[in-house]
Amino acid sequence: MRGQEPLLEVKDLRAYYVTKRGIVRAVDNVSFDIMPGECVGLLGESGCGKSSLALAIMQLFDRVAKFAAGTSGARAALDRYLESQEQGGPVRHGVQGSIIFRGRDLTTLPEEELVRVRGREISLIPQGMTRALNPQFSVGMQTGEPVAIRETQVRLKELREKVLQYLNLVHIPDAGTRFVLDPGSFSGGEAQRILIAMALINGPYLVIADEPTSALDMTVQRQIMNVLQMVKEEFDVSLLIISHDAGVIAELADRVAVMYAGRIMEYGDAVQMFHEPGHPYTQGLMASFPTIVMMQMQAGKKRPRLRGIPGDPPDLTDIPSGCPFHPRCQFAQDRCREEIPEYREVGPRHWVMCHRYEELQSNGP
Ligand SMILES: Nc1ncnc2c1ncn2[C@@H]1O[C@H](COP(=O)(O)OP(=O)(O)OP(=O)(O)O)[C@@H](O)[C@H]1O
Ligand code: SF4
Ligand SMILES: [Mg+2]
Repeated sequence: MRGQEPLLEVKDLRAYYVTKRGIVRAVDNVSFDIMPGECVGLLGESGCGKSSLALAIMQLFDRVAKFAAGTSGARAALDRYLESQEQGGPVRHGVQGSIIFRGRDLTTLPEEELVRVRGREISLIPQGMTRALNPQFSVGMQTGEPVAIRETQVRLKELREKVLQYLNLVHIPDAGTRFVLDPGSFSGGEAQRILIAMALINGPYLVIADEPTSALDMTVQRQIMNVLQMVKEEFDVSLLIISHDAGVIAELADRVAVMYAGRIMEYGDAVQMFHEPGHPYTQGLMASFPTIVMMQMQAGKKRPRLRGIPGDPPDLTDIPSGCPFHPRCQFAQDRCREEIPEYREVGPRHWVMCHRYEELQSNGP
């Protein structure tokens, strides 16, 4: 993988909502990359900005943001303010920074090319979309729609074969007879797998799956995980799996980005992140993640004690000064309260945003 060009390189990305409560800094100076064929996990507590980051990458952020209570005047004022900042640059689709995908910057790509990228090259499976399948059209028709849009001349027989191939791939039972049925005839888990089939059918370079297993029961979650594992192994595609569940990320990801208060706190190799987390926040997250031993204890009816992180994540309209994690960090010092730590590469392909990283590494926490 070393020496290869990243498939996606996000640099200094910002995406803010304007609301009546104030400016929500949902994505704040985020930088990370995804290599070809790699599965990256984006892990963080609820409300830290994960879905906003996915929407910003797709250049769809403003479509969601415009439903916020802010007026267009307030949005324009915010964009002007961001552009006037020292590291400012143009704001487009409510997003500032750069998103280099296959050598092109999506933030400057003409709209018609962006539409092509969204339809063929990057697929987003948005959070909570299983109920968004259109009840008026058959599942087969909806699964084939991305292909029909791309190839207007596609023959019906070919399209049908392709749809069945993909529905079978994601293990939809009796797809050959059921593909004519409407989405109401499929379970929530099946609907999620149908969305995965739709995301794959045009052969994208990158699939972003936002909380693919949440709101589903354990058995159904397992089926989704198996399908994602199969996609990872069998398809020549990069994956960005977004989850608040460390178990999901542990099972699938090659590299993990830990997000907190709109920022990436640590980004590194998955094995390292789970076994030797470097950032105090990652350490807290991983300590609250039930290990296999803990699960075995649970099976034996002994309740495991999860250490967890004291306190709550901040309100993104009022992010703490300095390091955003300082009110919850047991290692916080004056500098942490005053200065925002740099997000820096501390080892090969390992980034950390903490003033005290080296010191805590050498002394041990
Ligand atoms: N359309 C919107 N308008 C205004 N604020 C929003 C909007 N969508 C999200 N937010 C706010 O932006 C912040 C980040 O939200 P986001 O949905 O990106 O977080 P998340 O990490 O995906 O959370 P979850 O794990 O619950 O899905 C939150 O404070 C949220 O309240
Ligand atoms: S910068 Fe300071 S407060 Fe933030 S994580 Fe590091 S030690 Fe904790
Ligand atoms: Mg989300």
